[in-house]
This record gives sequence, C-alpha cells and structure tokens, in this order.
Amino acid sequence: MKTKFSRCFLCVFFTLAAFNTVNAQTKNKNSIDAKITSIIKKLTLEEKIGLLHANGVFTTAGVKRLGIPEMVTDDGPLGVREDVKEGWGSTGLTTDSATFFPNGSALAATWNPELAYRYGHDMGEEARARKKTVMLAPAFNICRTPLCGRTYEYYSEDPFLNARLAVQSVKGIQSQHVAACVKHYAVNNQEIERGRVSVDVDERALREIYLPAFKAAITEGNAWTIMSAYNKLRGQYCSENTYLLQTILKGEWKFKGTVISDWGGTHSTIDAANNGLDIEMGSRPPYDSYYFANALLADVKSGKVSMKVIDEKVRRALWVTYQTGLSENQPAGNINTSAHSKTVYDIASESIVLLKNDKHLLPLNTSSIKSIAVIGDNATRTFHLGGFGAGVKARYEITALAGLKNRLGDKIAINYAQGYSGEYKPEGRKAAKDTAKKPDPEAMIAEAVAAAKKSDVAVLFIGGNREYESEGRDRKDLSLPFDEQKLVDAVTAVNANTIVVVVGGAPYDINKIKENNSTIVWSWYNGSENGNALADVLTGKINPSGKMPFTFPASLKDSPAHALNAYPGENLQVTYKEGILVGYRWFDTKKIEPLYCFGYGLSYTDFKYSGLYTNKKSYVAADYITANIKVKNTGKYAGKETVQLYISKSNSVVERAEKELKAFKKVKIAAGETVNVSLKIPVKDLAYYNVTTSKWTVEPGKYKLLAGTSSRDINETGTITVQ
Ligand code: BGC
Repeated sequence: MKTKFSRCFLCVFFTLAAFNTVNAQTKNKNSIDAKITSIIKKLTLEEKIGLLHANGVFTTAGVKRLGIPEMVTDDGPLGVREDVKEGWGSTGLTTDSATFFPNGSALAATWNPELAYRYGHDMGEEARARKKTVMLAPAFNICRTPLCGRTYEYYSEDPFLNARLAVQSVKGIQSQHVAACVKHYAVNNQEIERGRVSVDVDERALREIYLPAFKAAITEGNAWTIMSAYNKLRGQYCSENTYLLQTILKGEWKFKGTVISDWGGTHSTIDAANNGLDIEMGSRPPYDSYYFANALLADVKSGKVSMKVIDEKVRRALWVTYQTGLSENQPAGNINTSAHSKTVYDIASESIVLLKNDKHLLPLNTSSIKSIAVIGDNATRTFHLGGFGAGVKARYEITALAGLKNRLGDKIAINYAQGYSGEYKPEGRKAAKDTAKKPDPEAMIAEAVAAAKKSDVAVLFIGGNREYESEGRDRKDLSLPFDEQKLVDAVTAVNANTIVVVVGGAPYDINKIKENNSTIVWSWYNGSENGNALADVLTGKINPSGKMPFTFPASLKDSPAHALNAYPGENLQVTYKEGILVGYRWFDTKKIEPLYCFGYGLSYTDFKYSGLYTNKKSYVAADYITANIKVKNTGKYAGKETVQLYISKSNSVVERAEKELKAFKKVKIAAGETVNVSLKIPVKDLAYYNVTTSKWTVEPGKYKLLAGTSSRDINETGTITVQ
C-alpha cells in the first residue's frame, strides 16, 4: 500500500515537475524570442551587418550600446588553440595554454560516446575560461579516402559511429554554454583543391553516408552553429548552397542557429545571403571589404537583399549569443585541470589499438625485463602543434619516452635512439635556410641497431606526425614516411623481441610490418597524456580496447575512391562513383580482403560471444529491436570489449552494402566474468533513402543481425522479420 502510495505520489510529483520544466522552458524561449525581437528593432542596419561578418581573425562585432558581446570563436578540435593576432602570428601571451585533447580518429577508436561527451564538456570548460563563445569543433567529415590530410581530425568512415560521437561531443561542449560549430558541412572529404572542387554525389550516398552525423548533431545534439565547407556540392559552393543550407539544414532539420562560413570560404554576397549563409568569417583584413560587410550593406540598401533576410540572420546570431553569452548563470570555466588531464588520459588509453600480439610480448613483463631500447623520432616528438591548421599550445605533453620513464622509473634501463628524422617539408614550401648539419640516416639506423642489440626488448615508435598529416594537403600515398621500414627491418633483425608502435591519425601501409613483425600497436596524436597512456598499455596497467574507426586497405587501389579512379577528380570535379559503398561497405560487398578491417582491435584477454537473441522475431516500423548477447571474458585480464552489431539485408529492392553498423556498446568485463549486453536498434534505422519518394523507407522482409568483435569477426548471428 505504502509503495503504491509513494509511487503514485512520485508520479504526480514528476509529472508536475516535468510540466513546470516544460513550462519554464517555453516561457524562457518566448522571453528570449521577445527580447531578440526588441533588440532587432533597436539595431541600425550597420550594427546588424556588423554581427554578420568577421571583424578580427576569430571574432564578429558586438553592439556595445545594447550590451551585445562580440562572438568569439576559436579552433578546435584538438583543444582551445592559442590566441593569434592579425596575420595569424602568435600573440605571445603566457596565459593561452590549454589541454591538448586526442585527435578525432583517436576519439573514434575508443568507440565510447561517454568519452566524447567528456571531451566536449572539458573543452567547453576550457573555452569558457579563455572567454571563447564558439568552439570550431567537432569536425567529422567522412573518411572517404585514407589520403585526406584531415583524416586525423575527423572520426570515421562509418556514419553511425560518426553520429553517435558527434552528438555527444556537441552536447558536452554546449553543456558549458559554448556553442559547438560542427564542421565542415558538407562533403569536404579531400584537401586537394578543397577551395574549388565540386563534389557530385548521388542522393542516397549523400543522405546515408555523408549527412547522418550532421543531421544527428543538429537534431539530437542541438548544435547551435555549423560551418559550411570550402568545396562545392553539385556545382554550388557549400557556403551558398540552397539545397544544403535552406532545404535540408534549415528546412528539414529545422536548424535554429547560425551557419558560419569556413575561413575565406564565402564567394558572393547576394547568393550567399539569400541561400542561407549567416556569418562570413575570413582570415585577413580589410574586413569592410568582405562580401557580408560593405557589399551586403549596399545590396540591402538597393533592395537586392531584403531586410527580412538580414533580420533572420541577426535573429539567429543573437539567439546563439543568448545561449552563450547573454543569459544568466554562465559557468566561469576551468582550464588545464587535473580532471581534464584525466579525460585526456582516459580517451588516449581507450583509443590505442592492439593490432598484433602473436608472441605475447605484450604486456611487457616488467619483472623480468632489464633493459628496453626505445627507438624512433615519434618517441620524443610532440603532436600538439604542427602542419597547417589548428593546434594547441599545450600546457604539457608527455611524449612516449617520457611516459615510459615515468612508469618504469629506474627499474629498467632505457636505451634511446632517434632512429630517423621526422622533419618534413611539404612540396612547394620553401625550406628555411638551414645550416645545421643534417643527421646521417645510416648512422641513425646503426645507433638504433646498437641500442636494440644490447636491450632485452626494442620498442619502435614510428608513423606519421603533425607535419606529415595536415590540413590543406592530402598524402600522396599510404607509405610510411622517413624510410621507417628500413629502420624497422634493421632493428627487428637484431632483436626478436621488437614491438612496433605506429603513431598516426589515418591508415598507412604497414603490410610488411604485419607480415614480418610479431607485435604491433597503433597509437594516435593522443593529447597531453599521450606517453602515460601508451606506457600503461605497454606495461599492462591498461588493457587495450581501441578498435579501428576505418578500414586499412592492403593497397590504396583497393579503396573505393581509388579503385574507381574517382579521386581527386578532374577539372575540379570529383564524382563519388562508389555511391554508398564507402569504407567497409565497399570491402565487404566486393569481397576485398583489407589489411585491417573496420572495428578491428585486440585485447590482452579473449572474449567469447554466445546466445544472441532478440526480444521479438517480427517487428513493425515503429518498434525497437532489442538484441541480447552474452559475452564472456575467457582470459586472465579484465578488459573492455566493444560489441558491434551489424545488419544485412539480402534480396533487397535496392543496392545494399553487405553489412552496416547499427549499434555498438562498450562494456567492461572482469576476468572469467560473463555479461549480458543489450543493444537497441529502432526499426526505422533499417531504412534506406528512397530517391524516388525522397523518403526514408523501411523495406519489409528478413534482416540478418551480425554481432561481432569487428566488422569481419562475426561471432553470433540471428534473423528478424520486418512486416
Ligand atoms: C579550417 C577550419 C578552421 C578555420 C579557422 C580553416 O582553414 O578549414 O576547420 O576552423 O580554418 O581556423
């Protein structure tokens, strides 16, 4: 009786509370809308225009007399970048250091949306502490080609994984009343000619592959701003693309915030203004000569752009300002805290992917090992800055060597050798006059070999770096740079206990290493705590749980865009001939063996899957499929496993990929323990985009469920029917 009463009482209480919250929200919304309307009435046309274009590298003007602050943006996504002055030079401040967060593909390799939220939350706190109101992050264009220079900044080749992480990153950032600016909308999948190339992509691929994470970031994550991409879609610049901005973003997705151009990515006044761009940003003065400055003023005065259009943009800009600056109880922020370091450490340690451990050299047996050769430029290199584009002036960054020293103390002798020089000058960039004597590559290898010879174990840190992978250019091929293979071969020849740690943000050709070496670890540009996390994975304090967020092709020509000769395009036109078959969708459907498949990653323990069953056998479109599966940790270490659930539809009326990821869950399982993992898929997520009706359509019939530890290690299957 008592229970019933309290339950009933609680019901009423919560219903009332919910009603009050909704009521308060509606009131608040109405009052903000009313305030904005009243501000718009008070603004002069010049003041309105001032809100719509840059007045500095990262700012737009406010209106002092009405208490409207400037909009202060900043990059993202690696953390809050250092302050720059006109011309992008450093301001030389000593107060603009920040936490360096792991790169996008590292975050994606965690397959952990909770970590994406913490990433956003902590970066949001840092943005507030640095008085930024818009973070130009997260960035999550689809990895169409592994060569794209910004693959390291982005998340994945899979739209579902992409969307789950994007939503949480956005929510995290905005929890601090800092606007997320999701970028780059849309189809900015290569850096070659990014400012001029036009992408021709079919409607299904656009809807099913390239837009889902943007849609989710807007409709679920409620992102307040979005950045239009540099490139064109179907012949029209993204910054003035009616279809992307008006029809889809502001129409279908009901976006309320502002569309901000990429820096210098605006190409017209009237078209951009009328087709949906709200704010023009750029890199250099004179700001008055921007398309959305004096030219826009003149076009409004002459009636070519209506006041209604301007007021709508101003309303949007003020709305964002209300979320970030004008409303009460704004958090003060926090920067470089130990909590932020912990987040970075957690992301880094969950992102590292164990690719091969055939001899069980890992985790290192620190009680019997007396000496370790630590070899490679990447053992001592930092990654918070480098290349073209956004970096972070990290307050600190632990290198791999420093991490190992921290963790091993003086118990184990460390013999360091640089092994190769990671200095990189992109083609066309004039090398600074450098009179310093260049290190001799042969001598460096000889030194590394000597270190490896006298050590029980050799750990090689090779791969790319932030100069080699960069915004503004694509890599030419997948080969390992800096003659690293030669170093690997030489060291492996003299020390059978060689562990290769490859650091990079994108796939590389590591065929030979996979063939010849017993032990391979993949790591990333892993933030301020990089070295500590790496050392903890190598020594077994952390059991690796990272899974590849993209396919490693065995050969570049196996990748869809390259197999079809559809990259980087001709005459500034690139056609996405592979359509929906991006990433593993292509490899699986065409039965091409990759080097490492999507979702791949080992652990120091083993997991056994059993007993997949669904809550029902037959579903209607409004249902949710609940798939349950038992996962047992059969090894001797506790570990985390990401259960991946794919669906497959045979005999479909449309072309389908062999399988598509529809759910995943990361769980922690103690040694010997069995857990029940429950995964939910809304039946509507089985839909394909029907180009005839322009609607998402769930096709009736049988679907196969495939649960596995990677896209190619499927352990349990089941079948369901959709009516
Ligand atoms: C990049 C953006 C970045 C902007 C401002 C552009 O080159 O594409 O991602 O936010 O610069 O730094």
